[in-house]
Amino acid sequence: MTSQHPELALLGGTPTFPEPLHVGRPNIGDRKVIERLIGEILDRRWLSNDGPVARELEYRLAEYLSVNHVVLMCNATLALEIATRAAGMQGEVIVPSFTFVATAHALQWQGVTPVFCDIDPKTHNLSPEAVEAAITPGTTGIIGVHLWGRPCCVDSLTDIARRHKLALMFDAAHAFGCSHGPHRIGGFGHGEVFSFHATKFFNTFEGGALATNDSELASRAKLMRNFGFSGYDKVDYLGTNAKMTEVCAAMGLAGLDILEEFTAANHRNYDCYRTNLDPVPGISIINYDASNQNNWQYIILEVDPARSGLTRDELMGVLWAENVMARRYFYPGAHRMEPYRTLYPEAGKRLPNTEALCESVLALPNGTSLTEETVTTVSSIISRAVENAASVKRKLAESKLS
Ligand SMILES: Cc1ncc(COP(=O)(O)O)c(C=O)c1O
Repeated sequence: MTSQHPELALLGGTPTFPEPLHVGRPNIGDRKVIERLIGEILDRRWLSNDGPVARELEYRLAEYLSVNHVVLMCNATLALEIATRAAGMQGEVIVPSFTFVATAHALQWQGVTPVFCDIDPKTHNLSPEAVEAAITPGTTGIIGVHLWGRPCCVDSLTDIARRHKLALMFDAAHAFGCSHGPHRIGGFGHGEVFSFHATKFFNTFEGGALATNDSELASRAKLMRNFGFSGYDKVDYLGTNAKMTEVCAAMGLAGLDILEEFTAANHRNYDCYRTNLDPVPGISIINYDASNQNNWQYIILEVDPARSGLTRDELMGVLWAENVMARRYFYPGAHRMEPYRTLYPEAGKRLPNTEALCESVLALPNGTSLTEETVTTVSSIISRAVENAASVKRKLAESKLS
């Protein structure tokens, strides 16, 4: 080992990074803008309830996404609950299991049954054939997820929904700044839901939004996010509290101004990971289609143990020992988490591609806080782990025994 390539921590060296390097460190918007906006919010003493900053962000987002309506919410989970309810989804709704569990929770929380459907192993997104096969007389809707910001089969799902008279919603939590061909994600289906959580490409600390061209859906969602109030003393719907605060909206405006900087940093890091990791056997990074716009936020590895000599979990063990906190998104699959594991114990039988991917996918850090040097160092840990696969395996086996 040279001094440039010290011993892996798992094999007796010291951790490469003194502090944990997390997946999803926030991209921070223009500080001057956020500080100015927060000052104005405090002076105005209008902190929430459809304030001027939230309204401006809704206007700017609708313009950016080229949609008629954006309804800001306090997070995407509540936005999904409201959007699916406002779209009349009940009974059974078809969703992927290979997603963050919130996609299913948003339905189950309302007594709607998420019917887990398998994905295409190449795209990681819903397989239209599997969706069609999962439709029953009880089905009222489909939620497609644009996983990693890669658009799911929008055209086929739109066709299926139209033929079967189903509501179609997209969970676009990962897909802000992405497109399907020339069209920005945001305008497909009856509506699309974005997450602006701190870990996302574009954040409002916590936040989310429904984007739609359907005016009725937008007005129902607006009422529902504010307890159903249509006037001071008038409630028209069962509602909840899903409003976005002014400070959160200010963070959004500050980020929106410099989205291109976020994209450029992510893209540079993605290319650097590719250059370093493409030659490593058994390690592949997912592709982003050049005919779409991408936010390049997700660095997703697929680990093939037959070629790399290591399982995904063994590679993760090596990275964690170096303080690189790579994540097994979305292990073990929503259908193997509670309450779904107990409620739908047979679901896995229909999900072979989901279960296989849950064993092979690993997410690496990306974002504006990451330098190319750090990316190169993380990549070098991975290539050395594969070069030393036999010793790594032995070490991990020994530590399990002791
Ligand atoms: C695919 C997907 N859907 C929904 C959510 C929920 O978003 P939020 O944290 O804004 O509620 C997330 C969050 O990570 C997600 O990844």
